[in-house]
Amino acid sequence: MVKTCVKAQVIKQRVIAGDVFEMIVAAPEIAAIARPGQFVHLRLANVLDPLLRRPFSIADCNVDQGTLTIIYRVVGRGTVLMTKLQAGESIDCMGPLGNGFDLTAQRPLLIGGGMGLAPLVMLAKAFCSRPATVLMGGRNEQELFWPEIYAGVCKNIHITSDDGSIGRRGFTVDLLPELLKKEKFDSIYACGPHAMLKGVAETAAHYGVPCQVSLEEYMACGVGACLSCTCAGTSGKRHKVCTDGPVFRAGEVVW
Ligand code: FES
Repeated sequence: MVKTCVKAQVIKQRVIAGDVFEMIVAAPEIAAIARPGQFVHLRLANVLDPLLRRPFSIADCNVDQGTLTIIYRVVGRGTVLMTKLQAGESIDCMGPLGNGFDLTAQRPLLIGGGMGLAPLVMLAKAFCSRPATVLMGGRNEQELFWPEIYAGVCKNIHITSDDGSIGRRGFTVDLLPELLKKEKFDSIYACGPHAMLKGVAETAAHYGVPCQVSLEEYMACGVGACLSCTCAGTSGKRHKVCTDGPVFRAGEVVW
């Protein structure tokens, strides 16, 4: 796996909604080879706390401009400090890490819950010449700012919200059987909370549709050295999510 560690200069940063930010950084070496589903490990350049290195999925990359887009939610000290970064400042950026999605599908269905929709933006762009459908879910309208981000990338968007404030009331897995009965998809790509992925994996298996999932795990090192990110595999072995994944075939994971 080719990876590199660079001081990435912040190009711009903005609040998308509530406590969710979008940060664009210059990292041409990484942008040149990043694939949908891969991630970067970021650490604040001027802070000596190694615990503040964190994995972030790559939401988009622009090879011509040499930039990466990270969409992140503020969840602790590290991300609070990240929000303070101004254009021109830099951040340690290691990547691209992990294995990305298999992109061979012709009729893909992308399913994302909450911040799990971040890595699927780049995936939807990779499918721009194929008729991709996106099923997105979240707790409420405030959390479902994603249609604006996917606009222009994907026309077929279905939305569910836990409280019914936008789209269909319920979870993505509630709407999924309806979509699978209506349309013929040849692959499902999912990222989001564990319970959602489990439901998607089971439904995909029931309808006989191949399914890839991107797992979200705590990752200390990001490069296979610390074993902080393992999950049980159906082969009997434990997978390192950082290097064996984060993308797996749904059948490889013990749910
Ligand atoms: Fe260290 Fe995966 S994060 S082994």
